[in-house]
Amino acid sequence: MAEPQDQRRSPSEPPFTPHRRAHTRAHDLERYAGLFAERTRVMRSSAMRDLMEITARPEVISLAGGLPDTSTFPPSSFAAQMTRIAQESSAEALQYGPTEGFDRTKECIREVMAAEGMDPDPEDVIVTTGGQQAIDLVAKTLVDPGDPVICEAPTYPGAVPVFSSYQADTFQVSIDDDGMKIDELEALLDRLATDGRKPKFIYSVPSFQNPAGVTMSAERRRRLVQIARERELLVVEDNPYGLLRYEGEPTDPLYKLDGGDYVLYLGTFSKILSPGIRLGWLCAPPPVMEKVVLGKQASDLCTSTLTQYFVAEFFAEERWRAYIDDLAGIYRARRDAMFDALERHFPPQASWTRPEGGLFVWATLPDYIDTTDLLAKALREDVAFVPGAAAYVDGRGGSSMRLNFSSSDEGEIREGIERIGRVVAEQVDLFETITGEHKLPPPPDPPAPGSVLPFRHK
Ligand SMILES: Cc1ncc(COP(=O)(O)O)c(C=O)c1O
Repeated sequence: MAEPQDQRRSPSEPPFTPHRRAHTRAHDLERYAGLFAERTRVMRSSAMRDLMEITARPEVISLAGGLPDTSTFPPSSFAAQMTRIAQESSAEALQYGPTEGFDRTKECIREVMAAEGMDPDPEDVIVTTGGQQAIDLVAKTLVDPGDPVICEAPTYPGAVPVFSSYQADTFQVSIDDDGMKIDELEALLDRLATDGRKPKFIYSVPSFQNPAGVTMSAERRRRLVQIARERELLVVEDNPYGLLRYEGEPTDPLYKLDGGDYVLYLGTFSKILSPGIRLGWLCAPPPVMEKVVLGKQASDLCTSTLTQYFVAEFFAEERWRAYIDDLAGIYRARRDAMFDALERHFPPQASWTRPEGGLFVWATLPDYIDTTDLLAKALREDVAFVPGAAAYVDGRGGSSMRLNFSSSDEGEIREGIERIGRVVAEQVDLFETITGEHKLPPPPDPPAPGSVLPFRHK
């Protein structure tokens, strides 16, 4: 086929370069600066997204992402499911769908939620483009600039840019091994009430929290729901990891305890099936759902029809629980490899959480080590983690790090932790040489309120 006239070039000609290139950048910035919306001033980049670019080099062992191991999904099943869709529902699967999502997808969602004892009304469910969009839609629906929003400290690093892009005034409540500290939450609510303020919602990841890996105790869950009901507050429960349990007994989700009046529920297929399909959901009572649907229409009209068909095909095979069991077996072994490597290679001054499920361990180093600086050194050793500061809105978390154990195999995890352990040891040695301090740590001081996480040590 002939090339269009204006695109035809002789082989010796240099390739066409658009005029907007590096030399015009400064000028461009000036030109556009006056056009940016106010909210762009407070928008933050997602630390994990930035890191994904850096860690894409094949030689880097990345303990930074939150990636499930998609290589565990059999390619032959994937091929068979997609072939069935092409043969039986091609036109529908390639078409737009309803904003709320297909009934068939909602049936799959109800199966997943039933596995944790929940039974939402399908009318209260909307299928979203990942759990991330569900967080965005909740914030879009509820938050005006300056509105208080409460979350955990540390919180899911991907929620921080959402809250800041809606100009929320974000408050963080400390957590320990039993999840969000409810006494501290109540004190914060009282303080806000004194100023005539009430949070738009309390955002929590109660099971195998991202980033800390901890799980909120049953007692705290009951208290949180009770507080929400008494004070007429919304709680947003984000639960991507609830079914990825490797030991211990399940705990009731907040949504189950509340019945769906004051608790909005966010779920996703990302960690139990695939993040590439970008399929999540939100459960909310009708008045909230009505606004959420309008918000989603404006965002993307509907969630991918094709991937909704894929999920329905996969669930029709009735193997989804077995697949999660397979994943749990693999991740349990990787988690244990990480515990073992931390024990061997991290200095005695470090501590870390011992999650019973999920994808992350949260490690805390002596407070003279800044993990953002440490990351630069770690990258030189071809290993990456998420610096703790990404999980806070106020600069805390500087000596902590999030370590992922789902996306690398056991050998890589051991090697990665050994490399991080080496750069940590260098920093500890440097500090001790400069200050003349002894190698062994002093007995731990009681943490200042809301500063250091009193997580169980090793
Ligand atoms: C707590 C939490 N919420 C939401 C998400 C977003 O997941 P997705 O948009 O892939 O469903 C993640 C992903 O890591 C997460 O950890």
